[in-house]
Amino acid sequence: MKQYVVAIDGPAGAGKSTVAQLAAKKLGYTYIDTGAMYRAVAWKTLQQKQPVTDELILSVVPDILVDLQYAEGKTRVLVDGQDVTGEIRTPDINKIVSQVAKLGPVREKLVVLQRRMAERGAVLMDGRDIASHVLPNADVKIFLTASVEERARRRCKELREKGYDVNEAEIQRDIAARDKADSEREISPLVQTEDAVLLDTTNLSIDEVVEKILEMCR
Ligand code: DC
Repeated sequence: MKQYVVAIDGPAGAGKSTVAQLAAKKLGYTYIDTGAMYRAVAWKTLQQKQPVTDELILSVVPDILVDLQYAEGKTRVLVDGQDVTGEIRTPDINKIVSQVAKLGPVREKLVVLQRRMAERGAVLMDGRDIASHVLPNADVKIFLTASVEERARRRCKELREKGYDVNEAEIQRDIAARDKADSEREISPLVQTEDAVLLDTTNLSIDEVVEKILEMCR
């Protein structure tokens, strides 16, 4: 079977990382979670224990080493050699990550790494600007979405399972604010490219979405 480069874009909570991870495993591909890379920069910013400003974010960019290690269907996220996989999906990171992702120098640095990771093919990369900017020549382009209510429900469940006491209405507001910031930012906003296939997962199970992605790659 041909070794494709697959780009999956979509808004927060659409289920990208869950389904992309499963589809990559079935295809024997490497999964690259680009959102985790922006979260890694947000994590290092919060480590500075100072008010979060664009200047503070930019101050961590020149020296940060962000690495994704994908093995046995799981991605580990390393910042300067430290495993932060479990620490990058918290409400505090969610609050600042859009601010991190709108900054040009952050994006430039991470996009270089992302393109390098995809060079050998047989990769499935997810994010917001993969089809439009990072890998415009991807063989398969998918735009994954779901209603904002359903996305909030999923995020809430995920955070509650981790022990966070969260309020669904608040999560929905956060997601809507993130959608707006990600879609309206100047550099590489979230868009569905003309050549991407739209997959609305609101009423689909995880297995059904994975199956649809596999069909597109066959
Ligand atoms: O997919 P996620 O929720 O882990 O993404 C975290 C943030 O990073 C989100 O606000 C959008 C941003 N992002 C981006 O701007 N470009 C990408 N390729 C991936 C994520």
